[in-house]
Amino acid sequence: MRFTTQSMFEIINILKEKLDNLDAKGVVEFEVLDPDAATSTYSGNKVLLNSEEFIYRGYKNWVDLAQILYVKMLTPKKSKDATITMRFEKLSSDSFHSADASKEEKYGVESIFSEIHKLEDASFIYHYTQALKNVNINNRKRVLNLGINSGDEFDAIKMMLGDFEDMELVGVDYCESAIKVAKEKFRGENVTLYQHDINELDTLELGKFDLIISIGTLQSSNLNFKPLFMSIIQNYLKPDGAVILGFPNCRWIDGENIYGARVKNYPYSEMGLLYQDAMFCKKYLQQKKFRVTLTGKDYIFLTATSFNKIGCF
Ligand SMILES: C[S@@+](CC[C@H](N)C(=O)[O-])C[C@H]1O[C@@H](n2cnc3c(N)ncnc32)[C@H](O)[C@@H]1O
Repeated sequence: MRFTTQSMFEIINILKEKLDNLDAKGVVEFEVLDPDAATSTYSGNKVLLNSEEFIYRGYKNWVDLAQILYVKMLTPKKSKDATITMRFEKLSSDSFHSADASKEEKYGVESIFSEIHKLEDASFIYHYTQALKNVNINNRKRVLNLGINSGDEFDAIKMMLGDFEDMELVGVDYCESAIKVAKEKFRGENVTLYQHDINELDTLELGKFDLIISIGTLQSSNLNFKPLFMSIIQNYLKPDGAVILGFPNCRWIDGENIYGARVKNYPYSEMGLLYQDAMFCKKYLQQKKFRVTLTGKDYIFLTATSFNKIGCF
């Protein structure tokens, strides 16, 4: 297949049909203009190459298309005449989202989830560490993480600060195997990890915190998002404390991070629940005199700092 001046609408339909007839791991190949053949050019502009007309498209466009079509974009092959052959590999449906382990071990060491290293994901680490900067992490002493799993979010704090001996970090998760890994990683006395159900958080008598972090956890189906969120703010956050919440806006499938939140009963990405929950938290915190921002891409980060005393910016 060779695409020259076909519209993106046509290309999507042609590729969709090809992929529908392929088994997982099958590859579709098609030739297009090499994105390096032009510069300072937006997708959609015409480019003449050896008197043949092509529509220019950059790599971002092809990567987006790969995500939309549920394929992995393999390294394109370069041809002599400033075209390249794109290769799209169809994904299998392997995903922790459909795992049927016990609810506590759905995210355990044996799960597909444990193979995901979000700190190596440019979009996640950039926006998460930006949120940590915005809450002035250097000045936060007591930090609570709900749904800590094996401790990635504390790893990032350690990477940023070099040393976090002066802080008191508390993590909670009901997944036994993940908490075991976190305990092996953080042996210092300043990190306390509980294998415990967030629904029964009060029995731990944790006190109040300068920063509360929760990534990809509070929207879990076993938790009642809105009442839980309000009780966490009322009972566990100091008046001058800060909050970082991460709302997943992607799915992890067969080694790929596919953009867009998915909810039950929709075969495609639907972000209504994400927007609704994020706006609920934002309005609630604003009423309580917090400055709130929403940032990120594959994860949407809500960052809140109090106008009281050590709020930053
Ligand atoms: C999607 S994972 C996110 C883990 C980690 N924050 C991250 O982003 O990599 C959700 C985590 O919340 C934990 N979790 C879900 N419901 C829980 C509950 N009721 N009590 C304690 N932990 C819970 C799961 O075990 C899992 O580790």
